[in-house]
Amino acid sequence: MKDKKKTKISDLKAFLKFLDFLQEGILTIDKNGTISYINQYAKQALGLKDDCVGKHFKEAIEDNYLYSIISHDYGEKNVKEEVFINGKKFLIKLYRIDDKKFIHLMDITPFEIYKQAKKDFVSNVSHELKTPIAVLKGIIETLETEEQDENKQKFLKMASKRINQMDSLINDLLIIARLESKEDKLIKTNVKLRALISSIYEDLAHIAKARNITFKNLVPENETIFADENKLSILFKNLIENALKYNKDGGEVEVFIKKNKDYKVISVKDTGIGIPKKALPLIFERFYRVDKSRSRNVGGTGLGLSIVKHIAEAHGGKVKVESEVGKGSVFKVYLPEVEK
Ligand SMILES: Nc1ncnc2c1ncn2[C@@H]1O[C@H](COP(=O)(O)OP(=O)(O)OP(=O)(O)O)[C@@H](O)[C@H]1O
Ligand SMILES: [Mg+2]
Repeated sequence: MKDKKKTKISDLKAFLKFLDFLQEGILTIDKNGTISYINQYAKQALGLKDDCVGKHFKEAIEDNYLYSIISHDYGEKNVKEEVFINGKKFLIKLYRIDDKKFIHLMDITPFEIYKQAKKDFVSNVSHELKTPIAVLKGIIETLETEEQDENKQKFLKMASKRINQMDSLINDLLIIARLESKEDKLIKTNVKLRALISSIYEDLAHIAKARNITFKNLVPENETIFADENKLSILFKNLIENALKYNKDGGEVEVFIKKNKDYKVISVKDTGIGIPKKALPLIFERFYRVDKSRSRNVGGTGLGLSIVKHIAEAHGGKVKVESEVGKGSVFKVYLPEVEK
């Protein structure tokens, strides 16, 4: 019996030693707010000395934000927060077990640097590609107007189609890069929704006319939305373009608005090909396209709906979709009613 107890204590000592090897921080606080344990990593990360054990955390922890996380009463809830401490970014997880608090600290600075480098790379490459693509577009357009040979005309048309695809991909990547950058702020004004939808449709009317699709803008004349006009325009352009592209010849597209308690809900409804149930949760992912073969002939890169989601969320809103294969889809944009 005695031996068993001994093993247990020596096990515990070994375990505490092991916690000191970890490259993650662990800190425990007892019910009176006293630090009862801290491993080496947490000590270094928080700049605490050995004698912090036994002290009240209010005395020991200097970082204001971490201090507020620990002192806040979250009830039974476990908490996850990102905090900057001494120039590094940490993911802090706080668990409550009985009346004790267990805090886990992980340095996520390398992930942040990687994520930023990836974003910068996409953004820089997109910027660099913009000028040569614009030049190529210009050259192809000039050749198209001058070329008499029918065969060569065909090749120029193909080149023009491809260069336009590349151009819209680069534009979408730049929009995403801008939306993700911290400097990007919403510039909100009272946007006249009916006029906005009409002007977006004007740019897309050629798609509707080519396929005999009827477009109805049912938004009332006086309807205004307090939002970023540029971004709202990108959002609805993507939804209306999809509603036209994935429609049937002779189909219909309608845009209308309803209000519920917290949101203005703007719907873009089509009578198109619809989206299979299993694809619905995926369509807002970047580069996802339902059935590549069916969407190949309409072009596109699969970035549109991820941009739509991003913009709605940046406004504190959301996007929902209902669809039935062969019958059509309705995309609903929920924008919160905000004070103007
Ligand atoms: N209204 C719709 N009806 C049917 N399918 C749709 C509709 N809207 C989107 N989809 C499906 O969801 C996929 C993702 O749409 P998304 O707008 O993100 O990309 P895309 O239209 O393929 O390319 P782009 O980046 O040019 O918008 C589309 O490829 C299409 O298969
Ligand atoms: Mg699209």
